[in-house]
Amino acid sequence: MDERKGRRIIMFPLPFPGHFNPMIQLASIFHHRGFSVTILHTSYNFPDPSRYPHFTFRTISHNNEGEDPLSRSETSGMDLVSLLRLLKQKYLESFRESLAAEVGGGDTVCFLVSDAIWGSNTEDAAKEVGVRRLVLRTGGAASFCAFAAFPLFRDKGYFSTLDSRLDDPVIELPPLKVKDLPVIETNDPDELYQIVTDMVESAKSSSGVIWNTFEDLERDQLMDLSSNFHVPFFPIGPFHKHSNDLPPKPKNKEDNEITDWLDNQEPKSVVYASFGSLADIEEKVFLEIACGLRNSGHPFLWVVRPGLVRGTEWLESLPCGFMESIGYKGKIVKWANQLEVLAHPAVGVFWTHCGWNSTVESICEGVPMICTPYFTDQRVNARYIADVWRVGKVLERSMMDKGEIEKVVRSAMMVEGDGMRDRCLDFKEMADKSLGENGSSSNYLDKLVRHVLSFDSYGSTC
Ligand code: UDX
Repeated sequence: MDERKGRRIIMFPLPFPGHFNPMIQLASIFHHRGFSVTILHTSYNFPDPSRYPHFTFRTISHNNEGEDPLSRSETSGMDLVSLLRLLKQKYLESFRESLAAEVGGGDTVCFLVSDAIWGSNTEDAAKEVGVRRLVLRTGGAASFCAFAAFPLFRDKGYFSTLDSRLDDPVIELPPLKVKDLPVIETNDPDELYQIVTDMVESAKSSSGVIWNTFEDLERDQLMDLSSNFHVPFFPIGPFHKHSNDLPPKPKNKEDNEITDWLDNQEPKSVVYASFGSLADIEEKVFLEIACGLRNSGHPFLWVVRPGLVRGTEWLESLPCGFMESIGYKGKIVKWANQLEVLAHPAVGVFWTHCGWNSTVESICEGVPMICTPYFTDQRVNARYIADVWRVGKVLERSMMDKGEIEKVVRSAMMVEGDGMRDRCLDFKEMADKSLGENGSSSNYLDKLVRHVLSFDSYGSTC
């Protein structure tokens, strides 16, 4: 560890929970291995640094002087593609300046680790100050194969005929169907194409890609990608299961209520429903979900994030008497400590949007899934969960009526018969093994540390 004293890694997360969480977990893994870590974070969604006392936080402000225009309320309702474009426009120039200031400081800066979505500009900025750059890809390898195939999809006309052939197979990338392509509803598909291709190119031009996945889960996809990328890959996941130095998240009143409620449920009896930090749904769908969950007869814990239901604050659109009708059987909360919830023995099934973090977290606790993907990588993840790893069932967004929801929830809760839970437990065991002595993720982490230590400035080894 001594040799790492005074060696620092600078990290540049994308400011959304699904990206920040794995970056901070990775920061903690590096810290545990003796590195100091500085997080350059946008003023947008700036986290509470007191929760992460081991790291130095620096704010990157937007390019213009004056009041920050990127407050949450100003960006709410903006489509994700527009928001990403805005974030890149507003923050990348300031990032360049902040990075230069950091590199001019005391410790040896070994590496920059940037979220792949920030794209190639981060490579230029790193080159300017003589620092090497690793990329963190917070999604899985299977979905990245689909992102890397965007030029091919465009040449073959998949994007222009998307809606008319949803159930057709994507011949070039089995087992995907056209409806699984990782796109997003946007007014600006060209911008989406640019963001995706820039992400892929920026991974190709990096000094290595760090993945929150493990070999036994995505071996073939990692191999396919690495044969085209010619940069080292470090699949060291699942990040959250590594020994790390993250202090436990302080519990608030709602966390305690959730734990008490779960403690009072039968083993494997609860449906945990949560659709991540970005997806939003129409009020009509929200009401179908509410009734479907209630009518299933199973206890449920449902995260309804403020902002999840378009045009409403929180639960006000639930019909009068709904909360009384569910009584103690259902619990609706604004946010939960998902890692703790999934690890609780009462949870039987996770109804998820299939964000990659949620997918990995569920697999690592052996909890089978009901998959309702919304956009981008979630669609690919759902296909793999249902058809490749066979640890979940798909409930498509187009099928979101209360009768169908009730049916799927009931059948998912009877998973003992179809082997879904056993397969999921097998993956949980593989994930645990990958982090043990000589496990694949442990070995890749050792490799990653050696890789980081072998450079102390751009182009020269230390
Ligand atoms: C986004 C994209 O949707 C996802 O597809 C991509 O892979 C990463 O970025 P998000 O939608 O937030 O992420 O989903 P997910 O990847 O599952 O990340 C959500 C994170 O928030 C998870 O780590 C989860 O544990 C956490 N979470 C979510 C909570 O801690 N509590 C909650 O109530 C909900």
